[in-house]
Amino acid sequence: MIWKIAVSSRFYFVRVLVLTGAGVSAESGIPTFRGKDGYWKNLDPTKLATPEAFARDPQLVWDWYRERRERIGNARPNAAHEAVARLARRTGEFLLVTQNVDDLHARAGITAEKMVQIHGDIFVTRCSCCESSYVGRGGSPEPPGACAVQPTKGRLRSIAPTFGKVANLPRCPECHALMRPGVVWFGEQLSRNELERVEDFLGGGTCDVVIVAGTTATFGYIIDWALRGSRNGAELIEVNPEETPLSRFATKQVREPAAIALPRIVDEVLAEHLRL
Ligand code: OAD
Repeated sequence: MIWKIAVSSRFYFVRVLVLTGAGVSAESGIPTFRGKDGYWKNLDPTKLATPEAFARDPQLVWDWYRERRERIGNARPNAAHEAVARLARRTGEFLLVTQNVDDLHARAGITAEKMVQIHGDIFVTRCSCCESSYVGRGGSPEPPGACAVQPTKGRLRSIAPTFGKVANLPRCPECHALMRPGVVWFGEQLSRNELERVEDFLGGGTCDVVIVAGTTATFGYIIDWALRGSRNGAELIEVNPEETPLSRFATKQVREPAAIALPRIVDEVLAEHLRL
């Protein structure tokens, strides 16, 4: 009995921060952004994920997101997502900050309060001008009621204008501007609310372990959070087959695919912190 109480208090004391990127979903068949596999129809995704690309060719950008939604909808969480979810369940203080806009971490079982999707959610469709948004996990960019109305004579009627390349794109029912995917694009602000959640976690105490998996860590804030989370001697574990700008700060570099390395690392972390 005494042993059980000691174990559970130690269990709840562990603070873990996990930061993930596209590499974690690679083994579920979701292409990463950078590297040769990231290209879509010979186009660079990092150039499609911009407000400028959407202004120039919204159909092309929607086509890319529509295909990504479909691919994600058909994909399954892999052993890396499952390992992170297990860690979340077993540790009292836990936050996952993912740059991934897919829902594979959520489908592996991480609850919303333990996860921040810092670059948004691909299944959200929101207005490019006003605050209207739809959460539609059906994989369709058409928000209910925006693009099609109930049939009057046996056929669906589109309320979107039928000119040019944007004819079939969803329109905002409030202001009629184009709807767009609910993701953060290059050059846009991160959500203040989600930033606050990360800051609250970092301000709430030092971590015992920080794991950074499957990201090139190109954004300064990812490195900043990893370093702030691991200050005061926490272990900083990087899981990535390639070296990244974060590698030199890591206390442990694991050059393996996430789906192979993370289940083992989670076992090790749990075993280490359950030790009396
Ligand atoms: P990237 O596509 O830049 O990088 C994927 C990383 O995953 C690379 O460092 C790979 O070496 C690594 N990787 C590949 N396969 C892996 C595997 N099986 N296991 C572990 N690691 C693997 O993706 P991110 O770093 O997530 O932002 O990109 C960050 C952001 O840039 C994205 O969220 C998106 C993008 O443009 C926006 O759209 C704002």
